[in-house]
Amino acid sequence: MKKSISLLATPSWINLKDVLHKIEAAQDVDSLHIDVMDGHFVPNIAFGPDLVRDIAENTNIPIDMHLMIDCFDAMYNVYKNIPHRKLYVPFEKLKHAEYVSINVETNVSDVLPYIKDIKSILLMTVKAGFSGQNMLMDMLNKITILKDVNPCLEVWVDGGVNEETIKIVQQYRVDGVVMGSGFFEKR
Ligand code: DX5
Ligand code: ZN
Repeated sequence: MKKSISLLATPSWINLKDVLHKIEAAQDVDSLHIDVMDGHFVPNIAFGPDLVRDIAENTNIPIDMHLMIDCFDAMYNVYKNIPHRKLYVPFEKLKHAEYVSINVETNVSDVLPYIKDIKSILLMTVKAGFSGQNMLMDMLNKITILKDVNPCLEVWVDGGVNEETIKIVQQYRVDGVVMGSGFFEKR
């Protein structure tokens, strides 16, 4: 199972470069997860385009962006033009996309008609907006529904993954996990 590290849980914002070096030095990290928020779609603000670009240009870890923004039409192209590997967009904002995030409130049966266009799903297991929340275990059933319909679909779990909860997540057909506080609390 692959692992992506959520920079939202950084122990220091002012020393972001040191934090990036720590992530780069970790052996088992597949990518850097960057949560983009605008204070409207979710009640928090995180990384803006200039900071994401600066990070992307100063690390060799692949960047996965997780957009949680309301001003979608205006900003989608801005983020698309920043070097990245995956750009997850909320299902509510863009139905036909290759990388789609599903929020806690999203009914997975609404997603199924679009599943053939989707390469990877980012399944939220906490309410979007903040690191350090407890995993909502009943969200994991969505994995079974999605994988039953399309076993080739990549599914990643985002929210509340730590040394303990990862053991439960592993019992599902999950391709990768996003780890924020669960990663930094260990170092
Ligand atoms: C929440 C973010 C998550 C979060 C994960 O809106 O999308 O990526 O930072 O952090 P932890 O692992 O601490 O729940
Ligand atoms: Zn995220």
